[in-house]
Amino acid sequence: MSVPVLKETLTLANGRAMAASAPDFLLGAARRVGPNVKVGVGPLTLTVLAQPEALQHVLQKHAKVWGRGTSVDAIRPLLGNGLPLSDPPLWLTQRRTMQPSFHRAHGPSWVHTMRDVTARALDGLVPGAEVKVRQVMMNVARDVIVRAMFSGSLGEDTRPYDEALGVVEDYVSTVMVPGKLPLWVPTPRHLRFKRAVTFLHAQLQRVIDERRRLEAPPLDLLTLLVQAKDPESGQGMSDQQLRDEVMNIFFAGHETTANLMTWAVYLLSQHPAVHERAEAEVKAVLGQRAPEPEDLPKLTLLASVIRETLRLYPPAWLFARQCFEDTEVAGERFQKGQVVLLVPYVTHRLSTLWSAPDEFDPTRFSTESSTDAATWKYSYLPFGAGPHVCIGNHFALLEATVVLAMLLQRGRFEVLEPGRVKPKMGATLFVGNGLPARFVPA
Ligand code: HEM
Repeated sequence: MSVPVLKETLTLANGRAMAASAPDFLLGAARRVGPNVKVGVGPLTLTVLAQPEALQHVLQKHAKVWGRGTSVDAIRPLLGNGLPLSDPPLWLTQRRTMQPSFHRAHGPSWVHTMRDVTARALDGLVPGAEVKVRQVMMNVARDVIVRAMFSGSLGEDTRPYDEALGVVEDYVSTVMVPGKLPLWVPTPRHLRFKRAVTFLHAQLQRVIDERRRLEAPPLDLLTLLVQAKDPESGQGMSDQQLRDEVMNIFFAGHETTANLMTWAVYLLSQHPAVHERAEAEVKAVLGQRAPEPEDLPKLTLLASVIRETLRLYPPAWLFARQCFEDTEVAGERFQKGQVVLLVPYVTHRLSTLWSAPDEFDPTRFSTESSTDAATWKYSYLPFGAGPHVCIGNHFALLEATVVLAMLLQRGRFEVLEPGRVKPKMGATLFVGNGLPARFVPA
């Protein structure tokens, strides 16, 4: 049986619905027609796969046939050939070379960095003043990754970097907008983006050069990557590859995590009973002291809150694969070069897989729950699955746990316009209005 087509609407109307809210439009199509569905949008026909068997087929069993290919070319001017954009053989060498730099053994030093950055951010919150939670979380996640990556090597004044990164984030947030002009068209936004990328590349090169010269470099992610060697060939990375990987880690790692933390704040604010229990757990485990790495596994309810947030609002809500040869999946024939969209946002809300799929219910992930983690595998994939599974998932989960635990210790955000919260799609799935809120100390 081939992948069914969403027939009842016009491609033009679909285009408008996609632009208004692509995640909800695709979810609606899957609910009406089936988890794997073809949707006409303007001149294009998109093939959406959300059924676990199809995801496993593409991401794991036939991962050699389905890769990134040209489907990610829109962000290549920024991210080059870093891990999230590459295919074997380069991808395989790079994954082998980089994997040890993300080993759990580095967790404790990351936790200390995360703790310091969070304390500074929370100290800066003025009780009662209105803030946008997404901006607070973006600043925290950006500082965490910059400090975990570079220690203090960027110098005291990080404003030029913040400015350039802001410009780049602005561009990246538009790359998935349908009908977007190609980068060679000299719009003011494109020109700003190109200047910012040139600046960032030059600065990165400077820091890499410094690191290569230092006899006792700080033990941060950059040093680990500078010293990393492919265990098979013994080769390290070229400067350009290193630069690409650093840029990729920065972009793959901070907006996603910031969105996760923002959605968790929103969901907790709307579920006071869960909020209360999470606060009680944090107080029982930590009291008023700062979290240590060994405390984090004891925060089991908070871990379930984070998992459930990632189910309802997976920041990497959609990713693409292109086939390298003629092939078949879900009963449908694909010709070499065709693209499929894999959509965790839809998979995570299928009523055939999840009971009351739109409800926030962290207990479905609690350790007492009878659901076996193995059964979630291709029904739950906020970090992807198969060989390309997120290399930074441990880092992200540590960060979300530290930040949310410290927030629960200190107070809470009172969300100002909960009725206006809508998921918006840029490069990631984020809270559309930035989540205006007031900080209420405990
Ligand atoms: C909540 C936070 C995060 C989410 C939801 C997330 C999600 C994902 C997903 C879905 C993929 C697979 C994409 C694909 O198969 O094409 C991925 C890959 C990747 N992520 Fe993450 N990520 C997060 C945080 C991080 C962090 C903190 C880092 C680094 C510090 C990171 C670095 C990467 C890299 C380098 C890849 C490419 C892996 C490969 O292709 O081998 N991510 N991420």
